[in-house]
Amino acid sequence: MPIIKLENISRSYKNGQVVIEALKNINLSIEEGEFISIMGPSGSGKSTMLNIIGCLDKPSSGTYEIAGKRVEKLGDGQLAEIRNEFIGFVFQSFHLLPDLTALENVELPLIYRGLIGKERRKKAVEALKSLGLGERIYHRPSQLSGGEQQRVAIARAIVGDPKVILADEPTGALDSKTSETIMEIFQELNNERGITIVQVTHEKSIAEYSKRIYHLLDGKIERIEDLA
Ligand SMILES: Nc1ncnc2c1ncn2[C@@H]1O[C@H](COP(=O)(O)OP(=O)(O)OP(=O)(O)O)[C@@H](O)[C@H]1O
Ligand SMILES: [Mg+2]
Repeated sequence: MPIIKLENISRSYKNGQVVIEALKNINLSIEEGEFISIMGPSGSGKSTMLNIIGCLDKPSSGTYEIAGKRVEKLGDGQLAEIRNEFIGFVFQSFHLLPDLTALENVELPLIYRGLIGKERRKKAVEALKSLGLGERIYHRPSQLSGGEQQRVAIARAIVGDPKVILADEPTGALDSKTSETIMEIFQELNNERGITIVQVTHEKSIAEYSKRIYHLLDGKIERIEDLA
């Protein structure tokens, strides 16, 4: 059973009289443990697709199943639960809260889960250490480099043991050396923890860390490229 299954997914936006079809009849199945990339020109629908996969947005039509559950049948509370327990998000601009330390940022998803302080801290410290940030736990985002901030964001994404990581241009704001480090972390999370990874990227060299590339064009899957 695929962990993510989109069937005939369309998403249109209406602005006044203009309707933009951001996604047109997308069919996509992702098995647990896959590492895939989504590529395509600006405006081709990559973020729209990732947001639907992450239950941050709803399709206009079609069906979406995550781990066998029909998403359109879930209420807001259940959707929030799936996002919190099942999915870790990583963004181009990190999305860390500036007034919180690295540790507090990583603890956040566990607060929503109702974990008590001590347990929470232990897990967050472990996650930060696993990303080589043991010496940075009391730093605020402004006191960290871009690569370190993205590693904090990855620690936050994995602290709750998600099945899936969704990353929208995770290396878009980083230099090539730092980008490599982030991709090596993704490969390790995929190989060693079996986390399913779906990333959006503009760069072929970044997509090549994954095992399959979905090329989007004008809201459609134009081509699927399998990498050896
Ligand atoms: N909230 C919205 N309201 C109206 N149109 C939108 C909205 N969000 C996206 N769109 C349109 O949908 C299309 C797909 O947008 P999307 O953000 O998915 O593109 P993208 O492939 O992620 O592009 P980029 O590489 O620039 O990030 C675009 O034409 C965009 O203008
Ligand atoms: Mg985008």
